[in-house]
Amino acid sequence: MGVKAYGQEDPNLQEVVVSAPELAKRVAELGAEIADDYIGRDPLLVAVLKGAFPFMADLARAIDLPVEVDFMAVASYGSATKTSGVVRLVKDLDLDISGRHVLVVEDIVDSGLTLSFLRRNLLAREPASLEICALLIKEGLQKTQLDIRYTGFVIPPDFVVGYGLDVNQRYRNLPVVCTYVGPS
Ligand code: IMP
Repeated sequence: MGVKAYGQEDPNLQEVVVSAPELAKRVAELGAEIADDYIGRDPLLVAVLKGAFPFMADLARAIDLPVEVDFMAVASYGSATKTSGVVRLVKDLDLDISGRHVLVVEDIVDSGLTLSFLRRNLLAREPASLEICALLIKEGLQKTQLDIRYTGFVIPPDFVVGYGLDVNQRYRNLPVVCTYVGPS
C-alpha cells in the first residue's frame, strides 16, 4: 500500500507528511504574516528553482501587497536523494537586487548548505534586506546557523516528494508532500 498518485496506489510513496488543506492553510498564514511585515516596502520574492515553483505561485498570491518575483536555480552534486553540499549557480536572477527587500522562497531545507550558499551570494549584491521563507525544514539536520525568518512546517528527516519536490524530476506536481521510499 502506498499513497495514491496519478490515479493509483504508488508503493514508492509511503505516507502523506503534509496534506493539501494543511499546505493551503499554512501558505495563507505565511502570506498574511509577510504582508503585515512588509507594509511600505514591497518585497522582491526570489524563488529557488525548480522545487519552489508551486510554493512561489501560492505564496505570491497570498501576499496582499504589490510583490515582484524573480527566479534562480542552483544545483548540488550528488545522487537523487542525497545532496553532496557542493552547490553551484545554474540560473541567475534577471533583476538587480541592490537596495531591494528580498525574500528568498525555498522549498525545503535539509543540511542548509544550499541556503547558506544563496545567502552569501545574494548578500554580496547589497539588498536593503534579505530574509528567508522556507516551506519545509527537516528537523535536526541543519549544519550551519540558518536564521530562517518564515517557516512552513518542520518535518522528520525523511526524503519527501510532491508540491514541487522531486526524485529524478518526478512527482513535482503531486498536491501533497509525502515520503518517498523507492529507488534513488
Ligand atoms: P540542503 O542544501 O541539504 O539544505 O538541500 C536543499 C535542496 O536539496 C533542496 O532545495 C532540494 O532541492 C533538495 N532536497 C533536500 N531534501 C529533499 C527531499 O526530501 N526531497 C526532495 N528534494 C530535497
